[in-house]
Amino acid sequence: MTRRKLVLGNWKMNGLRADASAWASAASSLAGECSACEVGILPAFVHLDTALAAASGTRLMVGAQDLASWTNGAYTGEVSAEMLGDIGATHVLVGHSERRHLLGESDEVVATKFERALAAGLTPVLCLGETLDEREAGQTDAVVLRQLDAVALRCGAAGLARAVLAYEPVWAIGTGRTASPEQAQAVHARVRGALGNLDAMLPGLVRILYGGSVKAANAAELFAQADIDGGLIGGAALVPSEFAAICRAANQEG
Ligand code: 13P
Repeated sequence: MTRRKLVLGNWKMNGLRADASAWASAASSLAGECSACEVGILPAFVHLDTALAAASGTRLMVGAQDLASWTNGAYTGEVSAEMLGDIGATHVLVGHSERRHLLGESDEVVATKFERALAAGLTPVLCLGETLDEREAGQTDAVVLRQLDAVALRCGAAGLARAVLAYEPVWAIGTGRTASPEQAQAVHARVRGALGNLDAMLPGLVRILYGGSVKAANAAELFAQADIDGGLIGGAALVPSEFAAICRAANQEG
């Protein structure tokens, strides 16, 4: 059972074209250097072409941060899964907490987006995570498993086998407050257990990334946990030296 570590840099709504070009070039060299793990970047839609050009011919993977819940048609402002696949994106975030909480995406919408990503041959990166209030009310497992179940019901074990999961506690995103390795590991183990209940093959196959204030200083101890298969990195992905140190920590773990 080997799940190769994966580090994805989610740039969110940051950077102009020159930044995208510089960050993507730095990440391309890093992906070449870190041959024991996988590295990817998730730029805003308008920077995908710039990132794909820098990644061309390298090991760097490029994905999007969101996709439409519809197929092509009269949906002004939206970007379809087919369009993303057509330009060369391989991954797409689904259900990031900023979309769930700032834009009101429901579990059902997230499941539809997940389904669309699979249909277009993209790897969905399904984000799961509880708010601080939910954690303090003892609802962490219930919330995370409800978010997972919504997708499992729609796409089944076969769909999840083609995905990456990311546990991102909302209270740890962009706050500098990281889940401790033990707190993160406990949730990852619960999610992996739930995958096992769906299909015995899934726990060994599906990578579960941790996201939420991961930085060079805490990456190694997070990635050393048995059920943490890499990271989904926000702020630190915009600082090439930080992102490099995080990827090297993943590469050490293999
Ligand atoms: P930060 O690393 O900035 O906390 O963001 C995490 C995240 O939301 C990645 O998707």
